[in-house]
This record gives sequence, C-alpha cells and structure tokens, in this order.
Amino acid sequence: MRKLTYFVACSLDGFIGDPDGDATAMMSLLDEEFLQYLRTEAADTLPTAARRAFGIDGRPNERFDTVIQGRGSYEVALKEGITSPYAHLRQYVASRTLGASPDPDVEIVADDVVGRVGALKAEEGTLGVYLCGGSRLAGELLGEVDEVVIKTYPLVYGRGMPMFGTAGVDVTAFSLDEVRTFTNGTLVRTYRRKR
Ligand SMILES: NC(=O)c1ccc[n+]([C@@H]2O[C@H](COP(=O)([O-])OP(=O)(O)OC[C@H]3O[C@@H](n4cnc5c(N)ncnc54)[C@H](OP(=O)(O)O)[C@@H]3O)[C@@H](O)[C@H]2O)c1
Repeated sequence: MRKLTYFVACSLDGFIGDPDGDATAMMSLLDEEFLQYLRTEAADTLPTAARRAFGIDGRPNERFDTVIQGRGSYEVALKEGITSPYAHLRQYVASRTLGASPDPDVEIVADDVVGRVGALKAEEGTLGVYLCGGSRLAGELLGEVDEVVIKTYPLVYGRGMPMFGTAGVDVTAFSLDEVRTFTNGTLVRTYRRKR
C-alpha cells in the first residue's frame, strides 16, 4: 500500500496560515540552510515555479508521484495564472464546484474523494501520495493519512487555519519517526499513523 503523506507548514501553535490560510509570514524563515533542505530532501513537494527557480525542474521524483489538494489551495495558484502547479506529479484537485479542469494535467475529483485516495494508495508503486492541503481537505482525508510531516516554523499566529479543519473529534495516535532541527528554530517532524 502506498502512503498518503500530509506534508505541511505550520506555526508553533499548529496553524497552517492566518485565518484565511495566508502563510506568507512563514516565508521569512526560508533561509539558506532551510532552502537547502527543501531543495535536496523535499524537492517533490515544491511547486514547479520553485523547482524552476532552484534549477531542479527535471529532477526525478524520490518520494511522491501524485499530489492531491483542495480547491481552496489550488486557487492560490490559479490566482497567479498557474493551472498546473505541480507539473512533476500526477495532480488531483478535490472540488464539487470547479467543473471542468482548467488544465489537462489536473484531474478534478468531485465525488468520493476518500474512495479515490484509497484507490490511489492501492496502486502498485514505491512512491507515495502527497496531500498538499489545505485545512478542509485534510480534515476530510484524515482517516486516510498514513504520515504527517510538519515543518514547524517558530512563529505564533494566535488565531489561524487549523491543520485538519473539517475533522470531527476523533483522536488519532501517531508515532514519531524523525525530528530535524534547523538553526533558525524550524523543526521538521515526521509522524507515522499507528494502525
Ligand atoms: N501551510 C501550508 O503548508 C499550506 C498548504 C496548503 C494550503 N495552505 C493554505 O490553505 C488554504 C486553503 O485551505 P482551505 O481549507 O480553505 O481549502 P482546501 O482544503 O484547500 O480546499 C477546500 C475545498 O476542497 C474541496 N473539497 C474538500 N473536501 C471535498 C470532498 N470531500 N469532495 C469534493 N471536494 C472537496 C471543496 O471545493 P469546492 O468548494 O469547489 O467544492 C472545498 O471548498 C490556502 O490559503 C492555502 O494557502 C497552506
């Protein structure tokens, strides 16, 4: 079974952005050491524009071959005129309202997103499925999440968008696999779901 990994940037108080989801403040922590980590160890999770800027656009995927995001997150790219934000991955966008896909490389999932993700996980292969976000889709998919990688930046938002926005009260246990620390206070923690 392939893994569904929620790979997400968070504040110290567990928010993926301000109440509207804006995570711009986290960009201030992208110093050279952390950018080097993203370039070398998290390249699959970077949008095409960032991969181009880093000169690693043609780099083979090492961890993921598929990405799924909600319409809210996809719209961040659409507003910039980008219809295929993760061109190195197979791209799925959950939406009941978008209708036809604005890009031939992006498939819209309108019905049974949980079942669709289960089918993607059941495919043959060694690379996994990257759950990009956002909050509402992650909440819907919590039951399918096998791994959570949290990039925690040393910032407190006070109020903000939670990691799993639409999840009900369903306490789910994870075990810690790895902690990476960076000199600017950022942590990257990898948790595996206990099944
Ligand atoms: N910090 C980070 O690492 C990070 C990562 C990703 C995103 N974000 C931020 O998160 C924000 C977006 O999060 P969000 O919670 O507002 O939106 P979202 O989860 O990205 O998208 C929500 C939308 O996805 C669709 N959806 C959700 N569940 C569905 C289901 N079961 N079936 C079909 N469609 C479904 C719906 O689209 P329709 O309304 O079209 O039906 C829903 O409105 C953005 O501001 C982005 O910047 C942050």
